[in-house]
Amino acid sequence: MPGPTDPVTTALSPGGLDLDAMRSDVRRGLSQPQKELDPKYFYDERGSDLFEQITRLPEYYPTRAERALLEARMPELIDEIQPASLVELGAGSASKTRVILDAMTESGSAVQYVPVDVSAEFLEKTARRLRDEYPAIRIDPAVGDFSSDFHLPAIERRALFAFLGSTIGNFSEGDAVAILTRIAHQMRADDAFILGVDLRKDHAVIETAYNDSAGVTAEFNLNVLRVLNRDLGADFDLSAFTHRAFYNAGLHRIEMHLVAKTPQTVRIPEVGDFEFLAGESIRTELSHKYDRGTVATLFDEAGFCLEQWLSGEDEAFAIVVGSRRWNRI
Ligand code: SAH
Ligand code: TRP
Repeated sequence: MPGPTDPVTTALSPGGLDLDAMRSDVRRGLSQPQKELDPKYFYDERGSDLFEQITRLPEYYPTRAERALLEARMPELIDEIQPASLVELGAGSASKTRVILDAMTESGSAVQYVPVDVSAEFLEKTARRLRDEYPAIRIDPAVGDFSSDFHLPAIERRALFAFLGSTIGNFSEGDAVAILTRIAHQMRADDAFILGVDLRKDHAVIETAYNDSAGVTAEFNLNVLRVLNRDLGADFDLSAFTHRAFYNAGLHRIEMHLVAKTPQTVRIPEVGDFEFLAGESIRTELSHKYDRGTVATLFDEAGFCLEQWLSGEDEAFAIVVGSRRWNRI
């Protein structure tokens, strides 16, 4: 008989996701009047590969804009901060991170890199590659979900925390504040923070970025159904759903949906049966677009001081530099 002190075993998906947590997330999401799915389920190995392809699409400007900014501004910023470690939330393939690691190597301050991601397989791959490329830097990957309390290995100080790719924009305002607050709580007084945010601009430019002509974003969107079929034994018919992404101007965000082409019922073992009307959608992703005022509000609510606002001439994207605010009593 298992006793109260026995360790609890959690069933994990091949990608390292907690299946019980996934079932309850999916049940909650698909039971809403506007059905929704948590975007973290996009990122199995295939989803992470598709995401990499998105970042190289001609229509998808954010990655290029952010990389250009990092290349232009990091050397000086790193000289100023002299971080011993870089802690990166949602690191993915860490392709732009190399710009920061190069600057840290150049300034002679680099000791440790801690990529944090929910996607365990992808994280391991990234870590292996970086160990080859940066033999002088200790690579300590941490599997973690920044939507709940996550744990970090011992961090060398001073640390630079980075949250790039406008991943913050993929959350509602309340969740975004909660994530930033969790990051702030991991920081010490003289650590620094950089946040990458996509900025408001011509709506057509934004919409085109999420509706590429090669259909990669559509494949990425549909991948979440593939993940549910594989990990939870769901019976989604992928050919019965289509990708739709549009800019919601009032809420300053892209909304990505999967639209049911026909009426249908989807069965997910241990989760439930879910009915779809023709044209009914599952909202799978949000991507908020910012201006300085909205970021200042987020920072304020999460306990950050906004130190620097770095944006290129085209004002397409910004890197926002923050520090943890310490309230003196
Ligand atoms: N930073 C990279 C990747 C951005 S894609 C870039 O700028 O290109 C978003 C990344 O965040 C993915 O690697 C995904 O696995 C990770 N991610 C998404 N939700 C997460 C969560 N709740 N906790 C931790 N990582 C998450
Ligand atoms: N955070 C980036 C953005 O919102 C990358 C991203 C996350 C993305 N989910 C996506 C890009 C879905 C395309 C589709 O743009």
